[in-house]
Amino acid sequence: MTHQKVLVVDFGGQYTQLIVRRVREQNVYSEMVPWTEAFQRIQTEKPTAVILSGGPKSVFDADSPTLDFTCLEGIPTLGICYGQQLMAYKLGGKVEGADHKEYGQRTLTMHHGLTHAMTNGQVWMSHGTQVTEVPAGFTITATTDSCPIAGMEDVSRQYYGIQFHPEVTHTPDGRKIIEAFLQVAGLKGDWSTENFIEEEIKKIRATVGENEKVLCAVSGGVDSSVMAALLIKAIGERAICVFVDHGLLRKGEAAQVIDTFGTHFQGNLIAFHEHDRFFGSLKGVKDPESKRKSIGANFVQVFEDHANELKGCDWLAQGTLYPDVIESGSPTAAKIKTHHNVGGLPDWMRMKLIEPLRWLFKDEVRAVGRALGLPEDMVDREPFPGPGLGVRILGEVTPERVKMVQDADWIFRSELRSRGLNRGIWQSYAALLDVKSVGVMGDERTYEQPIVLRAVESEDAMTARAVNIPFDVLELVASRIVNEVDGVNRVFYDLTSKPPATIELE
Ligand code: XMP
Repeated sequence: MTHQKVLVVDFGGQYTQLIVRRVREQNVYSEMVPWTEAFQRIQTEKPTAVILSGGPKSVFDADSPTLDFTCLEGIPTLGICYGQQLMAYKLGGKVEGADHKEYGQRTLTMHHGLTHAMTNGQVWMSHGTQVTEVPAGFTITATTDSCPIAGMEDVSRQYYGIQFHPEVTHTPDGRKIIEAFLQVAGLKGDWSTENFIEEEIKKIRATVGENEKVLCAVSGGVDSSVMAALLIKAIGERAICVFVDHGLLRKGEAAQVIDTFGTHFQGNLIAFHEHDRFFGSLKGVKDPESKRKSIGANFVQVFEDHANELKGCDWLAQGTLYPDVIESGSPTAAKIKTHHNVGGLPDWMRMKLIEPLRWLFKDEVRAVGRALGLPEDMVDREPFPGPGLGVRILGEVTPERVKMVQDADWIFRSELRSRGLNRGIWQSYAALLDVKSVGVMGDERTYEQPIVLRAVESEDAMTARAVNIPFDVLELVASRIVNEVDGVNRVFYDLTSKPPATIELE
């Protein structure tokens, strides 16, 4: 069954991805399409509806993005900001530079039409030009003090325009407008996680030949786990899941990967137990970059050494997500996301690529993981760096120091989880410093190492802020760590934001 679809034409707006998200939140499948490809894709894919995004240009700039509206005939279309201006401009209305730029929250007066779906008139505006005359057949549906045509529509042709941004949270009733548009466009909201899984499984079966195999590296992280679970469901034992147990994961995670994919999903899991190799080459290495290089080189070497077991694979599965696809510029460009710690994969690993999650946002990936029956704490997992605890242990990485960090990290995160404090945290972890300090325990002098606790909130890891964890929780965690983890006699909490610090310590 092919689902109804909304194509969101991207004119370079800051919030275009958000429009896609808002549509999907109504259980309607949506994809973003660059304006340069829009005419052709609308003609061939015949979406049920189209949304035209905002953008930084003015419609009359020489190099402004545009669209031949003949492809929209008979397709309900909503223009947002630049999208509304282009709609007016193309259909015979008038667009002019405003006296002054309108930026920020404004109060909308809703007259009729789509805007009537809103009860709260607070809207977010961000524009320098605006529609000053609607095209023939259109009526004005909303106004603000400084924007006389904040909404317009021609119901007979199913063209709708709004000057404000319904997709941002600063427009509290924005979702209602999107919902109303989807409704008038006849979209039923028939897209769900279960549909996605069903269809993706069909696609994987149709793509991967009957005798072909897919190499699927699992790291224990959310994306690769969901990808592996989906592939196992689609092609069973022909999904060859490979897991390199380097000894640098958090407590219990390596065992959980093996249990989940080997036992629970009855997958074809090959686990390479490589603690000795990784710890061997990390011996005496203290410099952060040298550690990263060592870990990266060992990954490559593991694959090289086991080439014979893996060479029969025809496909390499990648956990690329929709934001990566959008960032790579064109949804059709297959960007190979090499593990950014690995200097380059062996040549024989350059196989055909399959990316079953390339249409999903992160929270949708988590929903798919849940629906497939992955353990909750795997689905909920925070981002974790490729070099693992290697970058959370300052100085030399030894099995003893890894165990100290694993135990402290377990205490910290379980105390957060049991209080629900993990919700809203981007990453939380324990790290080990490379110094010693004096303490006293049971009348004895101690001279041991300190643990640093870090918990940050962030949108995208580009910037981050320390989380305000209640003092009594920090105090309890510190006391438990010092009492329960051998070799630790002090605990610090890192208050630094990023920038100037980074999320990881190395
Ligand atoms: P920083 O420490 O640069 O981290 O603020 C930003 C985000 O990236 C993760 N990170 C890594 N991920 N390999 C990875 O796969 C790495 O070498 C690496 N270093 C940092 C980090 O956990 C955070 O989410």
